[in-house]
Amino acid sequence: MNIVVIGGGGREHAIIKSIAKSPKVEKIYALPGNAGIKEAENTGIKATDLEGILKFCLERKPDFVVVTPDDPLVMGAVDMLEDNGFKCFGPDKKAARIEGSKGFAKELMAKYGIPTARYRIFGDFRQAVNYVSETEPPIVVKADGLALGKGVIIAQTREEAVGALDSMMRENKFGESGKTVVIEEFLQGPEVSVLCFTDGKNIVPMVSSMDHKRALDGDMGLNTGGMGTIAPNPYFTEEVAEICRKTIFEPTIKAMAKEGCPFKGCLYFGLMITKDGPKVIEYNCRFGDPETQVVLPLLKSDLLEIMIAVREGKLSRDMVKFDTGAACCVIKASKGYPTAYEKGFVVTDRVDRKKADVFYAGVSEKDGELVTSGGRVLGVTAIAATLPEAVKTAYSEVEKINFEKQFFRRDIGKRALEAKTQTW
Ligand code: AMP
Ligand code: GLY
Repeated sequence: MNIVVIGGGGREHAIIKSIAKSPKVEKIYALPGNAGIKEAENTGIKATDLEGILKFCLERKPDFVVVTPDDPLVMGAVDMLEDNGFKCFGPDKKAARIEGSKGFAKELMAKYGIPTARYRIFGDFRQAVNYVSETEPPIVVKADGLALGKGVIIAQTREEAVGALDSMMRENKFGESGKTVVIEEFLQGPEVSVLCFTDGKNIVPMVSSMDHKRALDGDMGLNTGGMGTIAPNPYFTEEVAEICRKTIFEPTIKAMAKEGCPFKGCLYFGLMITKDGPKVIEYNCRFGDPETQVVLPLLKSDLLEIMIAVREGKLSRDMVKFDTGAACCVIKASKGYPTAYEKGFVVTDRVDRKKADVFYAGVSEKDGELVTSGGRVLGVTAIAATLPEAVKTAYSEVEKINFEKQFFRRDIGKRALEAKTQTW
């Protein structure tokens, strides 16, 4: 089969590597891909260039298309491709609203009794400010739409919350995405990411993981797309998993079907394990980045077969098998990320592929060499029988891949290793 994968980050590199293992695969095209992805032909066609994507598919006639990033999913890439006869993995535009509109997601949870933070939705600046003046900080302010992971402000004071409302609703910092805001209750507890395959009726969770969103050690600095991950997440015990299945995962799938927008693809549950039980912090309509870089290396089953089963509505639990081991991914980024950073530095890669894998993200090719071209440049993932070993190997191998002005967190996995629920 010829496969198209839309996207070009570390997550897509992990998906492509996993798909490439399927005996069914002849060729993989990445749109746009990146210069570090050697398992696919990188086309440079942007993931948001729907016209370009359709033109490419009409020319090459792929047997299957995997749409990964949030933007094309929310824009309706799957609807467009399916209407033109292409089989896709990924939710259609109506189902992608679960990530594309936080207001939609919150109202869905309220209607179907799915546990989440209490909230109010505002389209009017004055009313939002009035609400803030009656609310005890910390106050969580979220832009309704997609905002590159930067649309969430945890305000420690009312003034800060009003500042966030001002930048979103009046200065239009996030364009249309911030014209409507969700203000919600501040929750506390460890966070767990659970990516699930779902065909609209059946839902099968993958191994759980933990992201490290802040730029600096000790969870300091700005929020980023994610600076590293570990799997499995020790806070996602069997008991918690069972509660989530009953109160969150299955109710969400049923709710989406009932609303006339069954979700097919990978549904990402961002959970917080509070003292009152697990609650949904956010839904994403796609694989997480860099969660995918620890989850898929632990997948023992054929990813392409699972994706086809999801598309056909034939997903079953026994199709999805994971290794019992653990994984750790450390991201190397350009100094300055997530704000301004320099590009164009040569990457030297001496990682021992028997010990760890490298998933490239922000790189391009110049004079036959890989050079940095993005904020998050690459991730190094190690898998091992236990988490302490996976963390140790990821850190020894990450030293073997270098570029000028790099930085990375030195405490990926620390919180998980200190968890009281640990099993080692
Ligand atoms: P998001 O961009 O929705 O993933 O949110 C970014 C981060 O903000 C999350 O990973 C949480 O750490 C934090 N966050 C979001 N909503 C809440 C909330 N209601 N209470 C506490 N922290 C939150
Ligand atoms: N790592 C968080 C996300 O993919 O949204």
